[in-house]
Amino acid sequence: MSNNAIAVMASGKGSNLRVILDAVAAGTCPVEVKLVISDKADAQALNIARAAGVPQVLHLDPKAYADRASFDVDCAEVIDAAGCQWIVLAGYMRILSSSFVRHFRGRMINIHPSILPAFPGAKAVEAALGYGVKASGCTVHLVDEILDGGPILAQAVVPVLDGDTLESLHARIQVEEHRLYPATLARMVTTGFDIDGRRVIWRT
Ligand code: GAR
Repeated sequence: MSNNAIAVMASGKGSNLRVILDAVAAGTCPVEVKLVISDKADAQALNIARAAGVPQVLHLDPKAYADRASFDVDCAEVIDAAGCQWIVLAGYMRILSSSFVRHFRGRMINIHPSILPAFPGAKAVEAALGYGVKASGCTVHLVDEILDGGPILAQAVVPVLDGDTLESLHARIQVEEHRLYPATLARMVTTGFDIDGRRVIWRT
């Protein structure tokens, strides 16, 4: 198994997938995107992956499966068959079964649009705005069984402005996501890290 082969799972517009593919093409992120999986047939991420020539681009329909666990078993089989070492969640909006998380423990990362542990869950930007925080941002973290709760790899902070809407704040956060995700992925597959309790210690 090549240690820089990755699978990306995405449900939406795929801007994080796009910046990863751009960074790979530019030579600044030494990974090989072997597989993109989406649970949504109309995800723009699928078109982005096809246009970039990702070797395997799949829509798997959750409705075709009896339950979450059997859907995740199929995803894991496809990922393993493609020889992917890392699983990169990029706006993948399905809860993962604990057996899937265990199978890829230490090898699956996610990007979340808040400074965790504040505002986990699906509506993080809305929750931060509603709470009235003056700063928010994004977090890249390892995935474990706690929703948005795994050890933190990297974070970036943005201000929340008085006139912000959900859209304007999310757009400002995404600027940082697009910088942070490819850079963190590159660091992960080059220098790597150790884990001390909850702390990620980057090797030098
Ligand atoms: C990103 O902002 C990501 O942080 C968020 O979905 C967006 C996907 O954007 N993920 C979550 O909220 C996960 N809890 P994209 O489809 O343009 O990459």
